[in-house]
Amino acid sequence: MDRRQFMCLIGIGLCGCAATASYQGRLEQGRVLVRLDELPPEFAEKHYALVRAAGRDEPILIHRTGEGAFRALSVRCTHLGCQVRPSRSFLTCPCHGSTFSWEGEVLRGPAQKALPRYPVELRERTLEIIVN
Ligand code: FES
Repeated sequence: MDRRQFMCLIGIGLCGCAATASYQGRLEQGRVLVRLDELPPEFAEKHYALVRAAGRDEPILIHRTGEGAFRALSVRCTHLGCQVRPSRSFLTCPCHGSTFSWEGEVLRGPAQKALPRYPVELRERTLEIIVN
């Protein structure tokens, strides 16, 4: 276990109280597919969920920003790579306290770069997150 992994583990222990709804998407031809009708019930209330897909190491945070509008962000902190966590108003990193807006912009360091965003397309009731 390297330093970063250790710090992430400690961070999870300290901040693991806010469970985020999770969904298993399907990676297909460079896109992670999310069937909106299959999202966990918490998504309807909170408007965000972590999407995992076999073949990808890290989850993607999807956020419904309006009727039929979605945003997809990497949850890998741009400081040292811990997984950021959603709170009501921000995304926070449990390792060193960086804070990001829901658009992924840095609000407080030590991170200096925004969280990467993924383009999304909505086709009928399937959200397609373009990952490469
Ligand atoms: S890993 Fe250091 S603030 Fe996120």
